Amino acid sequence: MILVLVIVCILSTIISSSPSEVTNSQQFPKAIIIGVKKCGTRALLKFLSVHPAIAASSQEVHFFDTPKNFRLGSDWYRNQMPIATTNQYVTIEKTPHYFIDRHTPKRLAHLLPDVKLILILRDPVIRAISDYVQIKSRHEYYPTFDEFISMKNFTRWTPIKIGCYAIYLRRWLKYFPLERIHFVDGENLIQRPWEELQHVQKFLNISNDIRQENFYFNSNKRGFPCIKQPNGCLGSSKGRQHPFISDITRAKLKNLYSTCNRQFKQLAQINFPWL
Ligand code: A3P
Repeated sequence: MILVLVIVCILSTIISSSPSEVTNSQQFPKAIIIGVKKCGTRALLKFLSVHPAIAASSQEVHFFDTPKNFRLGSDWYRNQMPIATTNQYVTIEKTPHYFIDRHTPKRLAHLLPDVKLILILRDPVIRAISDYVQIKSRHEYYPTFDEFISMKNFTRWTPIKIGCYAIYLRRWLKYFPLERIHFVDGENLIQRPWEELQHVQKFLNISNDIRQENFYFNSNKRGFPCIKQPNGCLGSSKGRQHPFISDITRAKLKNLYSTCNRQFKQLAQINFPWL
């Protein structure tokens, strides 16, 4: 009789254990925002971090793409994760450089074969300008964007190369099935963030808690959306003013990216309005 009671007790403990009971511990990520740099990765993570089921890492971890970190091993990686409190059963990190790093897909698939991947993208022409603005902010004197694009080897310039998303996605698909990658439209994240958040919450299998009423558009933030909570807007390094770009430069880039965009659409089986 006692034995039966003990077995019943053990079984009921196992059955009633749910992910929500993982408390105050550091977990490997269940989902990773793998990129793309300058497409709204910070905004997406910030918005997701208000969800009660999510524990989001505040820093970019750079484990899989940085040899000195990778050598420290998986325990080091887990120790970089935020402490997950009651109900936070989805730990998320974002490191946008993972998307373009050659080693990350294989290393990640080996350590976390079931992890869900989130990839946010925007029009590669705008992405390139945004990347340029960030680099320029660190230099006193810097050529204009138009000057860069008029150079002979401009296609080899990293801010331009990154926008050919198909090249990198192809590498990821060698290690992860398409169903495990969720694509976020970074242009729509600026216009109607709740729509993108609804899709992400569904992908992560968590309740649809982040909705339209959680957002407002801030004229002091150049009209970008913020989430209704203290410090709910992004900092001054996000949502910067973009410089004037000539029509010739825009047309040149649009033309350059048209093949990549077509390939990406086929690989990802998605169709964002700007693709
Ligand atoms: P800009 O600063 O060039 O406008 P990332 O976080 O991946 O570096 O992306 C930065 C870009 O996110 C910004 O580029 C901005 O356009 C975009 N973004 C999307 N949603 C935003 C928001 N709510 N607030 C500020 N920037 C946002």
